[in-house]
Amino acid sequence: MCNACKGNYYITTPIYYPSSNLHIGHAYCTVATDTMARYKRLQGYNVKFLTGTDEHGQKIEEKAKEAGVTPQQFVDNIVLGEKGVLDLWKLMNISYDRFIRTTDDYHVAAIQKIFKKMYDNGDIYKGSYKGKYCTPCESFWTESQLVDGKCPDCGREVHDAEEEAYFFRLSKYADRIQDLLENTDFLEPRSRVNEMVNNFIKPGLADLCVSRTSFTWGVPVDFDPGHVVYVWIDALFNYMTALGFENDKYDDLNDFWPADVHFVGKEIVRFHSIIWPAMLMSLDLPLPKKVYGHGWLNFNGEKMSKSRGNVVDPYVLSERFGVDALRFFLLRTFPFGSDGNFTNEMLISTINTDLANTLGNLVSRTVAMNQKYFGGQLGQGGAAAPLDEELKALAADVCAKYEQQMDKFQFSVALNEVFRLLDRANKYIDETTPWILAKTEENKPRLLTVMKNLCECIRLSAILITPMMPETARKIFDMLNVPAAARTWDAKCYCADENAVWNTVTGAVLFPRIDMEKELAALEELSKASKKPAIEIEPYAEENVDFDTFCKSDFRAVKVKACQNVKKSNKLLQFTLDDGTGTDRQILSGIAMYYKPEDLVGKTLVAITNLPPRKMMGRESCGMLLSAVHTVNGEEKLNLIMIDDAIPAGAKLC
Ligand code: MSP
Repeated sequence: MCNACKGNYYITTPIYYPSSNLHIGHAYCTVATDTMARYKRLQGYNVKFLTGTDEHGQKIEEKAKEAGVTPQQFVDNIVLGEKGVLDLWKLMNISYDRFIRTTDDYHVAAIQKIFKKMYDNGDIYKGSYKGKYCTPCESFWTESQLVDGKCPDCGREVHDAEEEAYFFRLSKYADRIQDLLENTDFLEPRSRVNEMVNNFIKPGLADLCVSRTSFTWGVPVDFDPGHVVYVWIDALFNYMTALGFENDKYDDLNDFWPADVHFVGKEIVRFHSIIWPAMLMSLDLPLPKKVYGHGWLNFNGEKMSKSRGNVVDPYVLSERFGVDALRFFLLRTFPFGSDGNFTNEMLISTINTDLANTLGNLVSRTVAMNQKYFGGQLGQGGAAAPLDEELKALAADVCAKYEQQMDKFQFSVALNEVFRLLDRANKYIDETTPWILAKTEENKPRLLTVMKNLCECIRLSAILITPMMPETARKIFDMLNVPAAARTWDAKCYCADENAVWNTVTGAVLFPRIDMEKELAALEELSKASKKPAIEIEPYAEENVDFDTFCKSDFRAVKVKACQNVKKSNKLLQFTLDDGTGTDRQILSGIAMYYKPEDLVGKTLVAITNLPPRKMMGRESCGMLLSAVHTVNGEEKLNLIMIDDAIPAGAKLC
């Protein structure tokens, strides 16, 4: 720990699964963690901010297989590749101090040692995992996960099976964990404690299966080949291996463990508040001081996912609105412990209201008036008035309340405080009417003080928004020519007296107003363009046909001479076809919901012609027209196979 600093502070984000690129919901937690890390640094703490990627597990192994690459190549691409995780954190100004990848050698070796230690102390034991097994999917399911008694993934039969596996004695720690949750501030917000205790601990904590043999992409259990360590054990210990636990790569454990806080999304609170402390207890290690479970962001009321396209892509959003505006929106709008609904309308209106109108206008009006009335130079002197005292008192109150809220991770409430000051400063302009004061020479001293008060309010606000919008704060400080020492946390004392001097310069507009309608339309277009349809295809036939049988099928090019709906049928179309024989061929086809008959006249189609004739709605059908059937975004589609019109009627297709 350095002498001048207030102490060490260790904060972490969950490490991300690089199974696909991240969306704005993923970025939420990292932006919040970055804000907290910057706040603590601003206050003078020696901060260690850890983030990283959680790269093992069956899902990654499967995705890599689908992509035709090795799992390592697959994760390398998502983590290190263009617009990958590292690029994103750079773009979003994430000031992490350390980045861990669970495939890093030092981490893998440490996990093997940790697993062995728990095995040696008796908390990990070998047992057997019983469940319903789906052979094609190589997956175990519990009774309650089955759908109609079948595999929830592929719908096929499952059977009782048993597999050798290692278990962690989680049950042994149930009482201690319950005590930790109920009687300390270990887990926040408080509502999450009730969830954990009532849903998981009270019904009884079963021992946890901590090894797998059905796939290989994981940390191998070195004393029992064939087993890999359960991905959550591998992942949770990242918080300590990244400081040097059980490895020589780092040496920060004494300074930074136990962590001050782990920020995690609500769905992984269970792992962090039950399994994680139990494993630490097993190894007799200090527990982290706090786990904070934040809420989830939905998009337009639905679960956020990459398949929603560009509109949730942090790259696209940052490019269109700016990184600081995006960071600000996430923190200002959604109370950190609760769920929130992200909409583009809200994003744009928050930027317009808070950033363009309130903050941006205050800065640009103040700087412009300084320029106009004083050539940007506010020298010594001035004339105070009682109103100034009110502003000063409010500023002090805002700073104090901001700090209280930041210390509780209530970023949105802390920002409300900053906006209380900004709103008050804007009102102060209307009350003091600088443009009227500027008209008479005798009011110049009063005008000078008014402008100094405004600059001071802006300077203080810029200090307070530094953790959320570091670039914007810097731009504001630069426009006001604030010296480095006056940009710090300790420089929050309000000073607009006769001795204060300012030298301000006009700069670019901080947040241009966005035309809501135009922007929403542009985003809609982008979203449409980026959405890939989810195509489902029929399963392939399991049985082969022999070649001779196939060759017996007589496929021919046919031209549509006439086509009409069949009376009383909303499915059937009746085709009159030229099949090259000189005699018309009639085929009935159940495709009326996909085509208008008149649109098909003149088209060249493919018919199988040697099927026995069939009667449909009293009419004879001699053959079948070929079409493609598939499902797009859940909707069944059909396309007739249309071939080149240059192919003559009757041509044999083979
Ligand atoms: N790899 C685990 C974490 C291991 S930590 C030892 C994991 N990874 S994840 O990539 O699936 O999720 C990372 C974080 O993103 C989680 O905290 C999760 O809650 C968060 N979010 C994912 N989608 C989110 C939203 N739509 N909204 C807010 N947070 C979301 O879990």
